[in-house]
Amino acid sequence: MKNIELIDKINKLKKEKHAIILTHCYQNIEVDKVADYVGDSLYLSRVAANNDAKIIIFAGVYFMAETAKILSPNKKVILPQLKAGCQMADMITAEKLKDFKAKYPNLPVVCYINSTADVKAESDICCTSANAVKIVESLDSDKVLFVPDKGLGSYIDSKLENKQVISFEGFCPIHWEITPKEVEEKKNKYTDALTLIHPESNPEVIKLADFVGSTTAIMKYAKESKNKQFIIVTEKGVVDRLQRDYTEKEFIWVSEKAYCEDMKKIKLEDILKSLETEQPEINVNKDVAQKAFNCIDRMLKSS
Ligand code: 13P
Ligand code: SF4
Repeated sequence: MKNIELIDKINKLKKEKHAIILTHCYQNIEVDKVADYVGDSLYLSRVAANNDAKIIIFAGVYFMAETAKILSPNKKVILPQLKAGCQMADMITAEKLKDFKAKYPNLPVVCYINSTADVKAESDICCTSANAVKIVESLDSDKVLFVPDKGLGSYIDSKLENKQVISFEGFCPIHWEITPKEVEEKKNKYTDALTLIHPESNPEVIKLADFVGSTTAIMKYAKESKNKQFIIVTEKGVVDRLQRDYTEKEFIWVSEKAYCEDMKKIKLEDILKSLETEQPEINVNKDVAQKAFNCIDRMLKSS
C-alpha cells in the first residue's frame, strides 16, 4: 500500500477508535503525518498523563509505552513494534540497581526516564534530559545516585557545584560513541556553524558545544537563533525535522552513528496493523506500576 493510502486509513481508524498517536522526535519522519503529538520524552509523558483518548499508540520505544501505561493505567497502550527497545535502558536491571544502592547506602536515586518500570520502581524520582539538572538540584542531599546514563549523569554533575552525582555505568551508544574527532572535523568544514549537543554525549564531545540541551531545547535554540548553519550532535530524527521545518537554515548531521535503529523500527504499516488489531498491548505488573508511578509523578509535579 502507498504511504498516502496508509496515512488516510490510519487517520480514519484512529478517529473511530478514539486513539491518539504519540511520536518521539527520533522516529521515522513520515510517522509525523499521522501523529497527534510529536515531541521529546518529557512532553510525551505529560501528554500520556493528561488526555481523554481510549487508546494510546506510542511511536517510540518500549520504555516510553511502558511509562504511558503507568501514567494512564485505564487506557489501552500499544507499541506497534514490540522489538523497539532501548540499549541504554537494558544496561540496568532492578537487581543491578539494588547492588548499586547497597554500595552507596542512604542516597536518593534519580533515574532517567530511559529505564524499565522495574528500575523506576526502585528509584526515588525520575527525570528526562529536559529537566535532569533541575530535578537533581531540587533534592535535599549533596550526593545523588543517577541511573543508568553516565553521560547525562556526568553532565548534571558538571552543572551543579554543590552536588556530587554518582552515576551508574550505562550509556546510550547512539550518543556516547560520537567522538571529539568527528565533531571537530565538522566544525573545521562548517566554520560558521553552531554546534548543538545532546547531554547523553561523551563529556569530551560536550566540551565542543556552543549549546547543550535536550531534544526540545536543541530544536528551540535552532529555531530562535539568527545563525544559519548548525552541527547537530544527536539522533537523525531531530536533524530531519529541523531541516523540514526551517528550510532557510542548514542542519549538518554530526555522524552516521547518531542513528537509533530501535527508534526506526516502527513503520506506517505497523501503526495501521496495531490500530486494526489493538495489539501489541503493553501492560505493567500492578505493584511495580504503583511504585514506578510515584517516581514519575514526583518528577511531573516538580518540573
Ligand atoms: P529526550 O527526548 O529527553 O531528548 O531523550 C532522548 C532519547 O534518547 C530518547 O530515547
Ligand atoms: Fe535508547 Fe539511545 Fe535509542 Fe534513545 S537514542 S532509545 S537512549 S538507545
